[in-house]
Amino acid sequence: MYFIGIDLGTSACKFLLMDEKGTILNVVSEGYDVEYPHPGWSQQNPADWWAAVRRGVPVLLDGHDAAQVAGIGCGGQMHGLVALDADDEVIRPAILWNDGRTVEQVRYLNEEVGTEKLLAWTGNIAYAGFTAPKILWMRDEEPENYARIAHVMLPKDYVNHLLCGAYATDVSDASGMLLLDVATRTWSAPMLELCGLTADQLPAVHESYEAIGTLLPEVAAELGLPEGVVVCAGAGDNAAAAVGTGCVGAGSMNVSLGTSGTVFIPTAGFSAGVGDRIHSFCHADGGWHLMGCILSAASCNAWWMGDVLGTDDFAGEQAGIDPDAAPAEAPYFLPYLMGERTPHNDTLARGAFVGMSMSTTRSDLTRAVLEGVAFAIRDSVEIARSLGVDVRRSTVCGGGAKSRAWLRMLADVLGIELALPATEQGPGYGGAMLAAVAAGVYPSVEAACEAIVSVRDVVAPDADAVAAYEGRYRAWRGMYPALKPSFAQMGA
Ligand code: XUL
Repeated sequence: MYFIGIDLGTSACKFLLMDEKGTILNVVSEGYDVEYPHPGWSQQNPADWWAAVRRGVPVLLDGHDAAQVAGIGCGGQMHGLVALDADDEVIRPAILWNDGRTVEQVRYLNEEVGTEKLLAWTGNIAYAGFTAPKILWMRDEEPENYARIAHVMLPKDYVNHLLCGAYATDVSDASGMLLLDVATRTWSAPMLELCGLTADQLPAVHESYEAIGTLLPEVAAELGLPEGVVVCAGAGDNAAAAVGTGCVGAGSMNVSLGTSGTVFIPTAGFSAGVGDRIHSFCHADGGWHLMGCILSAASCNAWWMGDVLGTDDFAGEQAGIDPDAAPAEAPYFLPYLMGERTPHNDTLARGAFVGMSMSTTRSDLTRAVLEGVAFAIRDSVEIARSLGVDVRRSTVCGGGAKSRAWLRMLADVLGIELALPATEQGPGYGGAMLAAVAAGVYPSVEAACEAIVSVRDVVAPDADAVAAYEGRYRAWRGMYPALKPSFAQMGA
């Protein structure tokens, strides 16, 4: 039996074909654009995701026995608002997870409704990227569009809807809407009321590993798949990546170095009262997790290399960097190119190089970018540590995990061992594994992880470098508070 994993990302949709033992048979990527209509806004056309599916799946299957495909599972970019009208037409471009237009709605939610109520209703507070503030933004800024809303869904739920016709979501992705009561894994009635929504405008909530339907016959025919292929609920990309890296059950952790950067920590139960510091969400394995999210991780490197230096030779640019060296005089970088979620919750924060001199080189700035992202990841790890989580080891996935220099630096900055799974295809692999559980091949997500995920390499921290980075991290932490008033002024 084969399973297809879909990683519905921000810059591309990746498709992965694996057999039931987890052997990866093919991987295909189909890119698309993000629109930035104003500084800090980001949106995407849901039709582009579907076009990527229609192009990507047939290419994925080329040369393989499509009749063996038994299930599809998607790990999708989280929090995006997809609004459909009564005819199932997309009302406006989807407002993405790293969009910062909802400053006023977030202020209203956190200050007027109050974080205490939000924590009690949903387990979390409002951040600009979350879905509920975007619904309020539509109500306030686009009342005609808001009045047309018949269905609200998340990006991967839209793809699943086109695949099988269901209006369904899963608990991990739904957690990031600020509409789910994460403790009970059901929609929050007060939050729905506050957003002017009724339960029938929202998708049915499933566990991530449950089947929500089978491929529509015409879709199966177009994609070259047999009828009867199971579509599972899938997960938010971070929960799917956690599954794909075996990060299930207490004691594990995964860092994702994708467009965003996340620190994902499964917990034994729901963590109450912490959602004002770190996200407290449902996991795709039936449990819960904590998560810190930085809005720009590998995207800082992509911006620096591609947009600024005008090169695609990432390895060449990083070749001169000694990741274990943390010279006191090296310049610093704040990675807040799209504002920041954890820990600052500040839409107006921006990127900055600090501490350059006449002797600063191109390679020093490349180094600073990698280090600044590692420091921002550490901010989330420190929050987890302050909550009593014993952080000792983590898996890593995402495009950034391909850079050995970056991994070494991250191990030194966090002071922990980093384990590299056999594949860095976190969300796609996890999506395919969830589909295998939905199809009954494995009795649970844990059992699938146990059978499928393996580690190919471990990067250990260097004791001297850990000490040197400690001093630099402390200095770096002082820089955002010092610049915050300037960012606010720039954004006013
Ligand atoms: C998580 C988050 C991002 C997106 C990226 O809260 O916003 O990691 O899911 O696709």
